[in-house]
Amino acid sequence: MTGHRKILLVAYPGQGLINPSLRLANRLLKIGISITFSTSFRVMQTINKQTTPHGLAFAPFSDGHDDYVIGKPPPTTLQQHISDFATNGAPAVAKIITSAAAKGEPFDHLVYTTIIPWAARVANAHNIKSTLFWCQSASVLLFYYHYFNGFQELISAYQNNPVLPIKLPGLPPLTMSDLPSFFLPSSPKEHEFLLPLYKDHVDVLKSKNSPRILLNSFNELEVDSIKEVKGFDFLPIGPLNEKDSYGSILEEDYVIVNWLNTKPKKSVVYVSFGSISHLTSDQGEEIASGLLEGGRPFLWVIRNGEEVEKLRKIDELKKLGLIVSWCCQVEVLSHEAIGCFVMHCGWNSTVEAVAAGVPIVAYPQWTDQTTNGKMIEDVWKVGVRVRREGDGVVEGKEIERCVKMVMGDEEISRNVLKWKELASEAVKNGGSSSLNLQAFLDDA
Ligand code: UDX
Repeated sequence: MTGHRKILLVAYPGQGLINPSLRLANRLLKIGISITFSTSFRVMQTINKQTTPHGLAFAPFSDGHDDYVIGKPPPTTLQQHISDFATNGAPAVAKIITSAAAKGEPFDHLVYTTIIPWAARVANAHNIKSTLFWCQSASVLLFYYHYFNGFQELISAYQNNPVLPIKLPGLPPLTMSDLPSFFLPSSPKEHEFLLPLYKDHVDVLKSKNSPRILLNSFNELEVDSIKEVKGFDFLPIGPLNEKDSYGSILEEDYVIVNWLNTKPKKSVVYVSFGSISHLTSDQGEEIASGLLEGGRPFLWVIRNGEEVEKLRKIDELKKLGLIVSWCCQVEVLSHEAIGCFVMHCGWNSTVEAVAAGVPIVAYPQWTDQTTNGKMIEDVWKVGVRVRREGDGVVEGKEIERCVKMVMGDEEISRNVLKWKELASEAVKNGGSSSLNLQAFLDDA
């Protein structure tokens, strides 16, 4: 029934969007859907075609930054890049659609990731149905929905009294520090450019009849948020956590698995802050001191090699742990030596940790990560958030306290196993995520 379907999947070229998009493509290909994957030339070049899902077609386009070398500093600011990607991407995606139609192989659906709401308008202009693949949590999308539908006008009262409980339908009681980071006094003004983009996403969804939203999540994990918005049809299809290398934009290091094999069960502290967050040297030194203080073996991903050599106690650190510039995270998280994950609470990493049953020390940096940290600690109860004094750097002893706590806490151990089991059930035949994927295809 679905064999003839032809979907164009357009992804913004960030690791946190490319990884889940390629995994989604993989799931669709496996059930006979034809998928064409489209993103920028420069990122497409770094995707290892040998290991991409068999049968995946590619339609890259120029975002105006084709010379950019992965691993070097970005060619421009994130804000400028998102804008350039839109300016170049909209006509390019239109051309991909019209060329396919001219060849007699038209796309019948367009799936687009977070950050590129314009793709829905391109699809609409060509009479193709479109679906948002929101690469953050349902709860965060629900929060933006409320924010742009009235809560924006009320927020100053909460900003003046940051401990006042914020009660929004479908969400647990929140305080200001649990909202996406943009609303915190410490949030840099230059981050605010993302808010109009999220508003655009909400507006595009509201302009459709019963819009469907694919999510890297599962019904059981976000049950209250998923059923909340009338007229929005959330379709969680995750966890998208296949062990793969095809989603990697940066270099991966399989030496790690051999190193992990030498460590006792649940002994290693895994530390990683995703593909965008940049730690200050003070933050790095405090994490280093927390790891040394704890004395446990650790695997720490620091993307910029120059920063590693600047760490004050680098020799001691190298004796205790392994510092790498990148790893195959899903593989690492499923290794029995991993005891906990100190992380930034990026949505993919959060889902990957939940699905692997790894306790979390939540150290959110920005955007949706603050809200994810709240869910980790208070709703799913699979970890703790680091406490900081005001806006200051989190001290090493606090990181050590949290690591010790999550690695020894019985309630957290029980909960991580419960969520791991539910995650695995969701993607089995007849599980909630498998049924949601089928529902998407039946109606796409
Ligand atoms: C971005 C935003 O920062 C985040 O807040 C949002 O929720 C999603 O988009 P990013 O910071 O990259 O994402 O974090 P995350 O969502 O965790 O995605 C990172 C991806 O890179 C994960 O799939 C993770 O498995 C992968 N990764 C990370 C690796 O494969 N190896 C690593 O060493 C580190």
